[in-house]
Amino acid sequence: MSNWTLLGEARIPGTEQFIYLYQGKDDFSIKLARGQELMNSRKYGSEHALGEMPCQRLRNPTAAKVLIGGLGMGFTLAAALRSVGPQAEVTVAELVPEVVEWNRGPLGDRSGRPLDDPRTRVYVGDVVRLLKQSDRSFDVIALDIDNGPEGLTRTSNNWLYSLMGVVAAQKALKPGGILAYWSAEPDDDFHDLLKSCGLLVDQVRVFAHGKKGTRHTLWLATC
Ligand SMILES: C[S@@+](CC[C@H](N)C(=O)[O-])C[C@H]1O[C@@H](n2cnc3c(N)ncnc32)[C@H](O)[C@@H]1O
Repeated sequence: MSNWTLLGEARIPGTEQFIYLYQGKDDFSIKLARGQELMNSRKYGSEHALGEMPCQRLRNPTAAKVLIGGLGMGFTLAAALRSVGPQAEVTVAELVPEVVEWNRGPLGDRSGRPLDDPRTRVYVGDVVRLLKQSDRSFDVIALDIDNGPEGLTRTSNNWLYSLMGVVAAQKALKPGGILAYWSAEPDDDFHDLLKSCGLLVDQVRVFAHGKKGTRHTLWLATC
């Protein structure tokens, strides 16, 4: 990391782990302690798609209610805001308070400062907690809180990808709503789990950056 400057560090609530914000010559990186990169400001193709694709499938996106799980660098939030209408409300749940501060500060310009959009609501806390207290509340729930079904950030995040987690997310959706998940890798077991919950599931592969190279997986599951 020799050409990178450490701009901030934060403990991940509920763990002994830290995350770090670095600035390079042209980009930013959010990393975990062992150097694993959670997010890089140059690679946001699949994060955009996660915000955009489920909202574009809504019959009436004008006043849609959307929940984004994990702010990260704000790309998914920004894409969702671009895909819904003026009366929409997009809630972003972020576990680490410092990540919200970083987005209000040096990171914000990269994604177009979506936290300043009047349609944005910020929930600082565990998205699981918010899901459990929401009943038929959202038209879209888009989750990118970790690496996918195999969590990196917190082992408790794995719950979201379990049967109970999927059922809780389904209950938080309005009828006909769309549940979307991001993952670094395809996962047949998780795909089957979504289908076994009665969801209509599309698995799509999206480039991380540009039109070639690494691809990530999205599941778009309609209630
Ligand atoms: C990979 S990043 C999200 C990237 C984001 N899609 C973007 O467009 O930049 C994952 C984010 O989820 C947050 N997070 C992890 N576990 C969470 C949880 N249980 N609830 C809410 N946020 C969580 C992390 O702190 C991190 O900011």
